[in-house]
Amino acid sequence: MPCVIIAVAARLRHTDDVSQPVRIAPSLLAADFAHLADEVRSVEDGGADWLHLDVMDGHFVPNLTFGPFITKAIKSCAKRPLDVHLMITDPWTYADPFLDAGSDLVTFHIEVEQNGDVGELLARIRSRGARAGLSVQPDTPVERLLPFLDRLDLVLVMSVFAGFGGQKFMPEVLPKVQELRDRGFTGDISMDGGIGPETIAAGAGAGANVFVAGTAVFGVADRKARIAELRDRAAAAV
Ligand code: DX5
Ligand code: ZN
Repeated sequence: MPCVIIAVAARLRHTDDVSQPVRIAPSLLAADFAHLADEVRSVEDGGADWLHLDVMDGHFVPNLTFGPFITKAIKSCAKRPLDVHLMITDPWTYADPFLDAGSDLVTFHIEVEQNGDVGELLARIRSRGARAGLSVQPDTPVERLLPFLDRLDLVLVMSVFAGFGGQKFMPEVLPKVQELRDRGFTGDISMDGGIGPETIAAGAGAGANVFVAGTAVFGVADRKARIAELRDRAAAAV
């Protein structure tokens, strides 16, 4: 078993800069899918820490995106960790195929907890060498996460309703981030939705350290300058 632990630690060290206090995770939902490998390269060369993959099933959210097959294709051309956000009703069935495809972090939503054993799935994700996360929609109280905090590597606080890119940031979710930190949660707190140069400081000030940005990064030609701008504004607010 120790060699497994060492192998996992080495893998994470190789792909992730753990000394980085602020992480920028461009969401490929806003990328040009006709040139996906070029888009991945442009944000990695621009300093992206993680690549955020938005998986939607047309059931948990009213939109459909992609599955393990495309995730595996992205993995084949990616150097940075894949941060996979499962906006799906049945992560118990589909987490393993996404892990097989090379996901480094797998996050699913607490709103589907009636469909399976949340603790079992978090343990399964970790047992496969990935990091495990839970997400909350804007209208879901953060208290729903409390029974699982000690088993989470990441909490993803939605700052828009899941389903579509390009929506407006909802500042009313910021107290959830603050509450998680007040309760002593030391894992990653990610904010997802409407993150850009005008909103990232509020998230960082509340205690978030990972910022998912789709439109703000892929909507500009100079991804490197935009990622640096986001990072600087977040770091200045910490
Ligand atoms: C929304 C997704 C987000 C989305 C963010 O359901 O989870 O990751 O891509 O897009 P922007 O940054 O455009 O709000
Ligand atoms: Zn997302």
